[in-house]
Amino acid sequence: MAHLLVTGGAGFVGSGFVRHVLENTDHMVSVLDKLTYASSLASLRDLPSKRFRFVRGDVTDAALVDVLFAKVDAVVHFAAESHNDNGLNDPSPFVTTNLVGTFSLLEAARRHDTRFHHVSTDEVFGDLDLNDTARFTEDSPMRPSSPYSSTKAGSDLLVKAWVRSFGLRATVSNSSNNYGPFQHVEKFIPRQITNLIAGRRPRLFGRGQNIRDWIHVDDHSAAILAILERGTIGQSYLVGAEMELSNQAVVELILGLMGRSTDDYDYVDDRPGHDLRYANDTTRLRTELGWRPRFVDFEAGIVSTIDWYRRNEQWWADVKDRVEARYAAQGR
Ligand code: NAD
Ligand code: TYD
Repeated sequence: MAHLLVTGGAGFVGSGFVRHVLENTDHMVSVLDKLTYASSLASLRDLPSKRFRFVRGDVTDAALVDVLFAKVDAVVHFAAESHNDNGLNDPSPFVTTNLVGTFSLLEAARRHDTRFHHVSTDEVFGDLDLNDTARFTEDSPMRPSSPYSSTKAGSDLLVKAWVRSFGLRATVSNSSNNYGPFQHVEKFIPRQITNLIAGRRPRLFGRGQNIRDWIHVDDHSAAILAILERGTIGQSYLVGAEMELSNQAVVELILGLMGRSTDDYDYVDDRPGHDLRYANDTTRLRTELGWRPRFVDFEAGIVSTIDWYRRNEQWWADVKDRVEARYAAQGR
């Protein structure tokens, strides 16, 4: 049994990872989370108290981080400002949390010789053309476009430099877009599902032709656990389920599954600098670590996600109006 520290464990992907680890291993898990607007303690309800601890705190708090690192065998770092539209309004917390926060954790990992896994995004590679057939690989150059992706790229580079300069035992994963339960309603798929439940129409940025490569959050968790347990130190691994779809195709699918006409959506102002297409080649993860996605039927995954948002209105209803007011102020 090992003791893992999970930063950002009250967010979407982090809480999914905590649940995945508690269900599939006998590890002990401590979460360090600042509880920003993006978090929810309700995502961590009903976990086994003997194997789970929650600490409220900031990853930039070096003294607190040092105390926590002294008690654990490995750290999985999810904590981040994660939403592109927010970064375009105010990049400041992205620089502080994503860059300075990662630096603070790396310094503690160095002092305590802690195994460290850094959770990142394929957005660090910039975007691909819509009609291109190429995919990102681990060797693709970093060409980030936004405050979110550039601060994530910077944090990936810090991790790589700490491996080379200080012998840190670290790995990095760069996942494509996740979907599933417990995702904040500011993000694309939950925004459209909850719009429909709340009597609003779905909103497509621009003409809805941008392509994302979707993976179920639980498949992402399984990939991170495999990398943590068996990954090669110093390596990056791309994570994805080969599920490229235009935003319009996703909205049409959601509309159809929720019993609405598939053209019942609005086009709104495009996001400035909007990345066109992401797509990941996951050969390394599959061949080196034998990982395979379990959720290969995207439609079935969306059906269960819709069902979750219908059954868990109390989880998202309080923040929905605030999110929509923020989007309305941006014309989106
Ligand atoms: P999220 O916004 O849902 O959750 C982020 C969590 O981090 C929240 O609980 C928040 O309170 C916490 N946090 C923020 N700043 C903090 C700080 N200074 N100190 C401590 N905690 C802090 O994000 P998410 O979608 O779950 O993403 C988690 C990680 O996974 C991020 O690093 C993101 O880059 C990466 N990722 C996400 C996706 C995706 O599709 N969601 C895809 C690839 C990679
Ligand atoms: P998002 O979930 O914000 O993830 P990311 O920016 O990290 O890819 O958005 C996914 C895609 O959906 C992206 O192309 C922007 C688009 N989008 C919409 O068309 N409408 C929306 O209401 C939102 C939130 C996003």
